[in-house]
Amino acid sequence: MNELQGKNILIGVTGGIAAYKVVEVVSRLKKLGAEVRVIMTRAAAEFVAPRTFQEITKNPVAVEMFTGAINFHVEHIALANFADVVLIAPATANFLAKAAHGIADDLLTTTVLATPAPLLVAPSMNTLMLEHPATQKNLEILQSRGVKIIDAEIGLLACGTSGKGRLAEPENICAEIVKFFAPKILEGKKILVTAGGTQEPIDPVRFIGNRSSGKMGYEIAKAAQVHGAEVILISGNATVDAPKNLKFIKVETAEQMRAEVLAEFDSVDAVIMSAAVSDYRVKNVAAQKIKKDNETLTLELVKNPDILKELGQRKKNQLLVGFAAETQNVIEYAKNKIVEKNLDFIVANDVSKEGAGFAVDTNIASIITRAGEIENFTKMPKSELAEEIVLRVAERLSVCKK
Ligand code: C5P
Repeated sequence: MNELQGKNILIGVTGGIAAYKVVEVVSRLKKLGAEVRVIMTRAAAEFVAPRTFQEITKNPVAVEMFTGAINFHVEHIALANFADVVLIAPATANFLAKAAHGIADDLLTTTVLATPAPLLVAPSMNTLMLEHPATQKNLEILQSRGVKIIDAEIGLLACGTSGKGRLAEPENICAEIVKFFAPKILEGKKILVTAGGTQEPIDPVRFIGNRSSGKMGYEIAKAAQVHGAEVILISGNATVDAPKNLKFIKVETAEQMRAEVLAEFDSVDAVIMSAAVSDYRVKNVAAQKIKKDNETLTLELVKNPDILKELGQRKKNQLLVGFAAETQNVIEYAKNKIVEKNLDFIVANDVSKEGAGFAVDTNIASIITRAGEIENFTKMPKSELAEEIVLRVAERLSVCKK
C-alpha cells in the first residue's frame, strides 16, 4: 500500500519517554511511501539517538538550531517548507505550552511557527500533567487554531501510575496521517454501518450467537471516516476495539439493532449492513438460569425481523449495501438477495473458504450490483476490501446526489 507516496511529513519528536514509540511511527510512514524528516528537541535526543531516526528516514536528523545545518537554506525555513504536514509525537506539556503561545526557542518550535503546513499533535505525559488546567488550556488554544490533537490513550504510564497520558498507538497515529491525506470523497455524507454479531438470550446467562468478529464492519466504518463521512456504527458483539471519533451504538439483539437502525435511517445517505444478524430468537426467554434437569431441552425459536429487507421497503434516496455470507451457491443467493431486499449492491463471500469470513483479517469477496455486474476480488485484508466497498458507495452517492 502506498497511500502516502509523494507526501512529505515532518515529525517533531519532543522529550518524553514515548519518543521510542515514534521510531515505529516513522517506520510505518516510510512503508506507506512517505518522505519523512525528523526534528528532535535536545531532551528527545536523550531518550532516542538521532541516528536511529536517521537510519530509518535515510535523512539527516535536525536537533540544533545553529550547528550542522543540513541545507544551504535557513534550516528551519527549509524544513518548514518541506512539510505537507507536521506531526509532533510525543508532544510534551512543555512543547504544547510553547506552541500555544508562539514561543520559538529551539529548532522545532521555530519551525512550527514558520511552517504553512497543518499541524497534528500527539500528546504524551503523566496524567496529572495532562489534566492540569494549563495543559488543557494550551490544547484548547491549539485546537481553536485548527491543530488536530491525536488524543492520548489510557493505560500504564512510564512513571508507574495508570491513567490517561500514553502516546496514541503508532498504528492509530499513522491512521490519522493517512486520513489527513485521503481524498474526502464522502465529505458531507452520513453513513450508517452495522457490524458484529447479534446475541439472542436464552436465559440470564446464555445466548444464541454467531462467529462474527465485527472486523469487516469496523474496517468499513474506519474507511468511510477516512474519506470524510460522518459515520454511525451500530455494533453487536465484536472482538475488536471500536473505532474512535464516530457515533458508536452497542446493541445485543436483532430487535435492538433494528430499533437503533430505524432511528437513524431517515437522516443517512447510505447503509452498509455488514452485521451478522441472528435470523431467529428464543420465543420465551427464561427469567432464571435453566437447570440441567432433563436429558433434552427444546427451545422454540421465532423469526427475527429482517432489518435490511425493511430498509429496502422504506428507502427513499438511501443507498443500501448488504452482505451475503454463504457456504454454497454464493453468487446466485446474493443476486436473489439484491432483489428481495431492494439493495444497490451486495458483498458476497463464501465463508467456508480459507482466508474468508469470520474472525480472520482477510476476506475473499465479490461485489454484485443491481444491474448484475460482478467484480471478483482475490484474498485481501479486510481493510482493503473495506476501502473498495467505500469507494463504490462514494461513486454511487456522487452520481445519485448531483
Ligand atoms: O438473508 P441473509 O441473512 O443472508 O442476508 C444477509 C444480509 O441481511 C446482511 O447484510 C445482514 O446484515 C442483513 N440481515 C438483516 N436482518 C436479519 C438478517 C440479515 O438485516 N435478520
